[in-house]
Amino acid sequence: MTDATILAVETSCDDTSAAVLSGEDELLGHVIATQDLHGDYGGVVPEIASRAQLQVIDSVVGQALAEAGIDLSDVDAFAVTAGPGLIGSLLVGVNWVKAAAFSLGRPFIGVHHMEAHLFASVLEDPRARPPFIALLVSGGHTLLLHVRDWGDYRLLGQTRDDAAGEAFDKVARLLGLDYPGGPAIEKAAREGDSRRHPFPVPMVRGNQRAGDVDYFDMSFSGLKTAVLMRVRELESEGRLQEEVPHLAAAFQAAAVEQLTVKTVRAVAEMDSQRVVLGGGVARNRSLARSIEDRLAPGQIVFVPSPRLATDNAAMVAKAARFRLARGERSGLDLNARADLPMPGVT
Ligand code: KG4
Ligand code: ZN
Repeated sequence: MTDATILAVETSCDDTSAAVLSGEDELLGHVIATQDLHGDYGGVVPEIASRAQLQVIDSVVGQALAEAGIDLSDVDAFAVTAGPGLIGSLLVGVNWVKAAAFSLGRPFIGVHHMEAHLFASVLEDPRARPPFIALLVSGGHTLLLHVRDWGDYRLLGQTRDDAAGEAFDKVARLLGLDYPGGPAIEKAAREGDSRRHPFPVPMVRGNQRAGDVDYFDMSFSGLKTAVLMRVRELESEGRLQEEVPHLAAAFQAAAVEQLTVKTVRAVAEMDSQRVVLGGGVARNRSLARSIEDRLAPGQIVFVPSPRLATDNAAMVAKAARFRLARGERSGLDLNARADLPMPGVT
């Protein structure tokens, strides 16, 4: 199974993706179809997402196979995101893969979505291998992990409330910017001055010590409320519109500073040489730059390319290769789980 051609499918939220990974880990085919249906609602609507997944899954897999120049029957093993995510969306991928694997008599494996994000960077740079500190920041999760080895993870910290991407999305909405909010805020922030409306950096006190409950944990809801208060003030003064870039810059600076402090702290405490970023928020250039600036010479940050930072099936295929090589297989009783716990976490 170490040199199998793997077809992976990812349908955990609002993207439908399929990838073909060759035995030498070459990405032969990779298609990501992003739903452009949720902007009017300011967030993903689960019922709309799952219906749209069902409509495109056949053609997305078909395109990935065509790109790879292979037939479905050439696939040696199948992989699918089994959770966490939106249950209706997850089920589309899980059922598709189970049916294909069963009809061809091939092995298949359910993969944990956040574990898959850990494997995105190594697809592009073989140096992004354990041990490393991982910061996974997406619309649904904010995790700081010590990846001691593939499959051996120590959870150092996580968000107490909103996920990092969720905070970008909610603040964008407060500022009247488009959904998804991350790219909109990053763009607006380029025209802004972060010092005009400085927000306090959450969960970062001068006297924090190892073992403190908030040493590695993060929080975004207080920051979001601080932005809301400032928005109301400026609105009542009729000055909101002109201040939007400055508010975007100040919010981004505070959010990025919190993520940076916790990540750099983890690097120091775990005596690590490498940081691997993953998830949609890893597309934010100021985040990567801020962490890079704070690391010592010789320490490296790996940032997946934008396509591999957000949800995609290539990372699922790579994570599946690791699990399959260890002899792991799923059975037909594999179920999609919205709250699937991450394997290997202690
Ligand atoms: O990993 P992802 O594609 O999907 C989930 O699993 O959630 O992450 C999506 C999140 C959204 O909240 C989006 O606003 C955020 O990633 N995002 C960004 C940027 N691009 C996407 N956040 C900050 N800056 C960006 N440039
Ligand atoms: Zn994700």
